[in-house]
Amino acid sequence: MPTRSILTGIGGYLPEKIVTNDELAARVDTSDQWIRERTGIRQRHLAGPHETAAFMGTKAAQAALADAGAGPDDVDVILVATSTPDQAFPATALRIQAALGVTKGFGFDLAAACAGFIYALSVADGMIRVGQARGVLVIGSEVYSRIMNWQDRTTCVLFGDGAGAVFLQAGEGEGNDARGVLSTHLHAQGTLGDILYVDGAVGRHDLPGTLVMNGKEVFRQAVTRLAGAVDEALAANGLVYNDIDWLVPHQANLRIIEAMGKRLSLPPERVVITVDRHANTSAASVPLALAEAYADGRIKRGDLVLMEALGGGLTWGSALVRM
Ligand code: UT7
Repeated sequence: MPTRSILTGIGGYLPEKIVTNDELAARVDTSDQWIRERTGIRQRHLAGPHETAAFMGTKAAQAALADAGAGPDDVDVILVATSTPDQAFPATALRIQAALGVTKGFGFDLAAACAGFIYALSVADGMIRVGQARGVLVIGSEVYSRIMNWQDRTTCVLFGDGAGAVFLQAGEGEGNDARGVLSTHLHAQGTLGDILYVDGAVGRHDLPGTLVMNGKEVFRQAVTRLAGAVDEALAANGLVYNDIDWLVPHQANLRIIEAMGKRLSLPPERVVITVDRHANTSAASVPLALAEAYADGRIKRGDLVLMEALGGGLTWGSALVRM
């Protein structure tokens, strides 16, 4: 029987502080109505000084391990998808390794912006399938509030902070009905790097960097690229729209999410939506949405879940998981 990556635990963490659209409207020239109508966002969680990517990632990872009934000794690898690490190095993954009390294996950070969790899940799945690891923590943790231009109303209203994590463990299975990661598909198009980027980094002391986006062009790319990714995932597994139980999409804009749900002919109640309360938490958005729908009992063991995301790079991809 082939080795499969089984998703045995899921967890999330959101900063304590909630900021409403009206509160933002007091700071920049925007309105609750504009933000709701164009994005579906009502509020976002913003990190306090102590709520770093490592801090929030640790909390989400602890919740995922507890959910799996696993402990530090079960963790071989920690992968953290983040564009907002605490430090250039050590990797956020290793700060989390220390905080969790994991003393073996290895870990590293992976930068693929909003598609980071899908990328990390794909890398983790590969490691498990080839026998390099038996337990992998896959974490998306982001503090985009630290890379916002708080004077730019076209971006600062769109993002929030948070972390989500899953624990993948080696198991056995074959076919679409067996539990585990059925497929992941990754894509990138570097020529589109200038439609969504951070204009600096720790290596540029003159430019700490804030996020810049051509929202209209990213929107256009998201709708076409994600539709392609969804079709690709189904075709690769010999599945049709009807087979999907849940769509857990990247949470950037309610209009993009609804377009994807319609494309899959999924009733709205089968599409997990958190963008209204979390805004766009980049690499944390998919695992946070998964954590919420799993914790409240909507997503159950045996369900077929399709995840997709697109972000700066341009990066995009999908993951199909039998829970
Ligand atoms: O996570 C990575 C993936 N990211 C995404 O998928 C984001 C994709 N893009 C989007 O979600 C949308 O393009 C936005 C929500 C960013 C913008 O929505 P839009 O419908 O494309 O609006 P727009 O950029 O065309 O702006 C329309 C108007 C402009 O005014 P004029 O030129 O028509 O007078 C903007 O200046 O809305 C204005 N505007 C705002 N008004 C009030 C832009 N931002 C704001 C704001 N409040 N916050």
